[in-house]
Amino acid sequence: MSIPVDRSPESTLAFLREGYRFIGARCDRYGSDVFQTRLLLVPTICLRGRPAAELFYDNDRFRRKAAMPMRAQRTLTGVGGVQGLDDAAHRDRKAMLMSVLTPTAIRQLGQLFDDEWRARIPVWERSGRVVLYDEVARMLTRAVCAWAGVPLADSDVARRTTELHAMIEAPAAVGPQHWRGLLGRRRAERWIGDIVDRARAGSLPAPAGSALRVIAEHRDERGHPLPRRIAAVDLLNILRPTVAVDRFVVFAALALHDHPQWRERVRGDEAATESFVQEVRRYYPFFPAAAARVRRSFDWAGHHFPRGRRVLFDLYGTNHHPELWPGPEQFRPDRFAGWRGDPFSLVPQGGGDHLTGHRCAGEWLTIELLKRAVTNLTSAMSYRVPPQDLTVNLRRMPALPPSGFLIDGVRPAG
Ligand code: HEM
Repeated sequence: MSIPVDRSPESTLAFLREGYRFIGARCDRYGSDVFQTRLLLVPTICLRGRPAAELFYDNDRFRRKAAMPMRAQRTLTGVGGVQGLDDAAHRDRKAMLMSVLTPTAIRQLGQLFDDEWRARIPVWERSGRVVLYDEVARMLTRAVCAWAGVPLADSDVARRTTELHAMIEAPAAVGPQHWRGLLGRRRAERWIGDIVDRARAGSLPAPAGSALRVIAEHRDERGHPLPRRIAAVDLLNILRPTVAVDRFVVFAALALHDHPQWRERVRGDEAATESFVQEVRRYYPFFPAAAARVRRSFDWAGHHFPRGRRVLFDLYGTNHHPELWPGPEQFRPDRFAGWRGDPFSLVPQGGGDHLTGHRCAGEWLTIELLKRAVTNLTSAMSYRVPPQDLTVNLRRMPALPPSGFLIDGVRPAG
């Protein structure tokens, strides 16, 4: 049995046009969770679903070296970071990153985010109308820099946030938005590179256990310190995605707006808050897919995977797979009540194992920050949602309601 082949000779434009539904729509059309197409001029096998997740996260079958398109490396992830490593080099770098994301450290960053949020409520009360996305972005930038040991003057918060956002928005963009991502990355790597140099020279005190200290002092599996640029790339691999949680916070606010009964359900209820947050991560679009390359040829479910072939695993499509999630297009947090976890079905941040595989290092931190945001939105303040464009356009990657979620009439909870 051969893999169904997409009719179009080159599908990059279709992917950019169709966005998050590109892979799923073809899987539905071919009646197969595996098909082959051409993306960025190379043959690419696309996969979705639970069995595919188990396959994709098998390190013996796939490698990450040279898997991600260069345009995404030069903007989103950086070149030389943990995402493109394999085997011992990956295990070493991943362990370094995971070592700063302990449960205690996650709680501390959550508390800093909470403090930022509480301090802003009176400001929002005075200023009338605010864009939640912009506000949360700056709060997260301040909180994560303070937590990571990265000094950040008040006057620099806005521009550093803009640089981090530009990297996230660039990979699927063409023209000015892509160039802004390249520029944002260049500036941010220079900024963080200088800070790593100062920490190493002892002129900038980096607290023990902080991300800056751990990365600046790290010796790799061969005993070498990380080159300055690589240290900057991997420190940015903590700062950038933490700020990106702002998108999920906007989606959580949108879900509370569209399903107001959940405002009551989550208030003071830890388990309901957790279910709500999990459903936000499942339902709303973030990263469309993850990329790898076949390590050595193999056959799977009757399909041939030739050595070196690029493979895309559909994260969004797996989170919306009807066999895994009954009524996948309905927002139903109750589906997570009593959920015991499954590394291969809820995959907004990748699947498999956090330490040995490429699953997101910041998944638990993301959940913590989202829970704090939901608690603040429902228990720390009241607000109105004025008329605005709240469409979530699945053709735009990364997706976000155009208004950034406007709120007004903010009052602290009585
Ligand atoms: C905003 C929400 C987030 C989303 C949607 C997200 C999503 C992802 C995805 C899809 C991957 C790739 C999985 C794969 O390659 O198979 C990933 C990897 C990664 N993420 Fe996240 N992430 C988020 C937040 C975070 C946070 C808060 C951090 C760190 C504090 C983080 C750090 C990383 C790192 C270091 C990797 C690379 C892991 C590796 O290659 O081994 N992410 N993330």
